[in-house]
Amino acid sequence: MKQVKPSDALGCKYPEWIVMVVSRDTAEKPNVMPAGWGMICSGQPLCVAVAISTRNYSCQCIEDTGQFVFAWAGEGQEELVQQTGTTSGRKIDKFREFHIPTSEPAEVMVPLLSGAAANLECQLRHEYPSGDHVIFVGEVVAAHVSDPPIAKLENFDGRFAVARPAG
Ligand SMILES: Cc1cc2nc3c(=O)[nH]c(=O)nc-3n(C[C@H](O)[C@H](O)[C@H](O)COP(=O)(O)O)c2cc1C
Repeated sequence: MKQVKPSDALGCKYPEWIVMVVSRDTAEKPNVMPAGWGMICSGQPLCVAVAISTRNYSCQCIEDTGQFVFAWAGEGQEELVQQTGTTSGRKIDKFREFHIPTSEPAEVMVPLLSGAAANLECQLRHEYPSGDHVIFVGEVVAAHVSDPPIAKLENFDGRFAVARPAG
């Protein structure tokens, strides 16, 4: 092994999940942003976690309302990832601006993202400060998968593609 700067080792993490974090603000405006730093963090109950920068509007929305949707971006959502990852819901209504289609949630007040591989409705259970991010842990209270199935998009260091098994 050769020693490198810690940040230089991060290139090895790709391909990485693209989690579309859907939330809403106190005025009931929905918002969405892509997050690479997401994971499953409990099996019983099923929980997922996302690390969100304190500067992002989504951080404030989740803190204010205690709910979010954790959606794996689907094949075909490459442009949406770019659009929603380079703009802030603090300034615009992304759903209106980018004509983002939604579906009805079952248990939370946050819309589901149509075209995603899956949508997990989450109720906030824990919140941990982590440097310049906050880790939000949500219990999955309802789940939806695309029908017919849509392949999950992966991030290959800024290029988005579906990872398929060899052979
Ligand atoms: C592929 C991708 C992955 C990202 N991962 C994260 C992440 O894990 N956490 C985070 O806070 N921001 C992440 N971002 C940046 C946010 O999506 C971006 O700052 C967004 O504009 C925040 O929107 P908001 O202010 O409406 O919440 C990512 C962006 C892209 C394109």
